[in-house]
Amino acid sequence: MSLLSFGVMRQAKLWESPGRTIRTTRTKKPLLAVPTQYKPLPSVWDEGDAELLERLLNFYPRKRPKRILDATVNGGRFWRGSNRPVIGMDIARTHRPMVVADNICMPFRKASFDVIVYDPPHIPNQGKDRSKDFNTRFGLVLRSSKENGYTFSHTYPPFLQEAHAILKPEGILLCKITDYIHDHQYQWAHVEFVQAAKVVGFQPCDCIIKIRKGPIIDPKWKVAHHSRRQHCYWLVFRKSDKCE
Ligand SMILES: C[S@@+](CC[C@H](N)C(=O)[O-])C[C@H]1O[C@@H](n2cnc3c(N)ncnc32)[C@H](O)[C@@H]1O
Repeated sequence: MSLLSFGVMRQAKLWESPGRTIRTTRTKKPLLAVPTQYKPLPSVWDEGDAELLERLLNFYPRKRPKRILDATVNGGRFWRGSNRPVIGMDIARTHRPMVVADNICMPFRKASFDVIVYDPPHIPNQGKDRSKDFNTRFGLVLRSSKENGYTFSHTYPPFLQEAHAILKPEGILLCKITDYIHDHQYQWAHVEFVQAAKVVGFQPCDCIIKIRKGPIIDPKWKVAHHSRRQHCYWLVFRKSDKCE
C-alpha cells in the first residue's frame, strides 16, 4: 500500500515501545496531498460483475485507462451501461465481437493496452445438463480433452504470455477465475492461474471473492462430499515489479 493510498502526511506521530514514547518532528507542509477520492475496496463482493469491474477500473490503474481489451467478451455483460473505451474480442463469431480472434494469439501491437479483462470458460464440458445453455453463455466452443485433464488450465500460460506482451508497462490484468470439482478432484484453477502469471512476469496484486446467489449444482451430483462452489475470484495483476 503506497503512502498516497493511506493519505499519509508527515506530522506529529507517537508510537510506543516498551518503556518509552518517541515523538517525530513536526513539519508544516504535508508530504503528499490526502486523496479526496480514496474509497476502500472490499475483498468480498456480492453485487454484479459490472459494478465490481467499474470499481476495479477506478481503483488499480495509475491513470484513467484509455484502451481496455475484453479478451473473452461474449455478450458484453460486463460493459452494459458503461462508457469505457472497450475493445471486445471473442473466438466465437456468433457473439458478434468487435474482433474475432483467439486470445492465445492476439492481433494487437505490443504494449498497446492499459487494461485487459479475461473471463474464460470455467466448465470444460457441458456433460448431460441441458437445463442451461453453457455452450452459448459460457463459450464452450472449445472442449477440453482427457489429455488436458478436462480442464482449461493449459490455456492460461499462452494467454498470459500474450496479455503480458500487449499490456503497457504498469498495465492491469483483471481475471475472473472459478475453481470447480471435476472427475472427483478439486480443480485449483485460480492457483494455477496465479502461478502461470508469475512465470510470465506478472505481479499478482489482489484477490476479490465474488459471491453468487447460489451454487451451480450439477443435477447428476445431488449428493457431493465437498462444499458447493458459490463464489469465484477476481484476480488482479500488474505488469510491474511492484503491486502498488
Ligand atoms: C464465460 S464467457 C465470457 C462472458 C462475458 N464476460 C460476459 O459477461 O458476457 C467466455 C467467453 O470466452 C470465449 N472464448 C473461449 N476461448 C477463447 C479464446 N481462446 N479466445 C477468445 N475467446 C475465447 C468464449 O467464446 C466465451 O464467449
